[in-house]
Amino acid sequence: MADLFSKFDPLIQQREALLATGVTDPFSLVMERVVSPTVAICNGRETILLGTYNYMGMTFDADVIAAGKEALDTFGSGTTGSRVLNGTYQGHKECEEALKEFYAMDHAMVFSTGYQANLGIISTIAGKGDYVILDIDSHASIYDGCKMGDAEIVAFRHNDIEALEKRLKRLPPEAGKLVVLEGVYSMLGDVAPLKEMVRIAKENGAMVLVDEAHSMGFIGEHGRGVAEAQGVIDDVDFIIGTFSKSVGTVGGFCVSNHPKFEIMRLVCRPYVFTASLPPSVVATAATSIRKLMHGSNKRAHLWENSKALHKGLRDLGFTLGTDEPQSAIIAVIMPDLEKGAMMWEALLEEGLYVNLARPPATPAGMTLLRCSLCAEHSSAQVGEILGRFERAGKAVGIIG
Ligand SMILES: Cc1ncc(COP(=O)(O)O)c(C=O)c1O
Repeated sequence: MADLFSKFDPLIQQREALLATGVTDPFSLVMERVVSPTVAICNGRETILLGTYNYMGMTFDADVIAAGKEALDTFGSGTTGSRVLNGTYQGHKECEEALKEFYAMDHAMVFSTGYQANLGIISTIAGKGDYVILDIDSHASIYDGCKMGDAEIVAFRHNDIEALEKRLKRLPPEAGKLVVLEGVYSMLGDVAPLKEMVRIAKENGAMVLVDEAHSMGFIGEHGRGVAEAQGVIDDVDFIIGTFSKSVGTVGGFCVSNHPKFEIMRLVCRPYVFTASLPPSVVATAATSIRKLMHGSNKRAHLWENSKALHKGLRDLGFTLGTDEPQSAIIAVIMPDLEKGAMMWEALLEEGLYVNLARPPATPAGMTLLRCSLCAEHSSAQVGEILGRFERAGKAVGIIG
């Protein structure tokens, strides 16, 4: 009998070799208690959280929590059903109303996760004979949506405007085309040149989907994302987002002005064939989204944090993913996986949690320590974070 697990042998060996060095497993950390959006207890130690994507710090917002508790008491713990059967409650509709207002768009569809939103929308609108043209560094949920949908996949070099144009010009003019972009790419924290890319897509007869998972609530005048900040939101056909980052809970969505968008509720399998979000989750999401509409002070503070951390890390001698801070993600490039894991562990021992990312999830085979800032990080915490990076970086030999 062929062992179906043999394909995982290289990964098992890599993991065993890493753990044999004595380093703590970076992928099985337990948060024993969460004190606030920026502090948790890990291994019995108070730890500053710098890898949670909780950009706007909404997880402990008093109004958000109260809304969730009330919905739990009133509507129960779960819907036990699909959105198209018994799983649409008042709260799901209110959540979709909040999204329509937030984005000033005609239609909003809430999914159980952002992963499912990409899976569902991409696979449903781009089918056999169509083309999906995507940035090679796209999120796994975008690739999986393509695989499920049977469209031809055409990848272009990351953030390369000319490469996108060249690929589009080679495709049959009459074919259905969907250009899929992200506002912020989460590995390096860099922003897409959406202004040029959306124009080129439109000139070449393509529809455009932008995943704004890492920009919602933070980037753009109203926090609608990079497409808003670069003035092209009206030309974007579909925006995908998640509740698991700035909104501070779980869930995903797509908003659109397409006049036929509502038919998606009947044909999109990851929407139809799964249970809807629990009432408490949609209540927290709707409350959080409405509060994010008035979040400009928090946005300004988050930018200050991002700039201060980027400058501080660069001054310490770390190599960063971007020359300037472009988002709330700052990626610190490690020489290799072993050093990256050692640095991750040294930071944890200092009381600082960051995300360790390694190939194949990362571009160009890089090992990264991905830092994501929160609007609730105080300036003093950012100073603390820099001190911990300095001590850990010197101890591990990453900086001199
Ligand atoms: C760009 C992007 N899209 C989609 C998702 C999926 O979001 P969710 O956590 O809601 O499944 C993520 C999450 O990491 C992401 O980074």
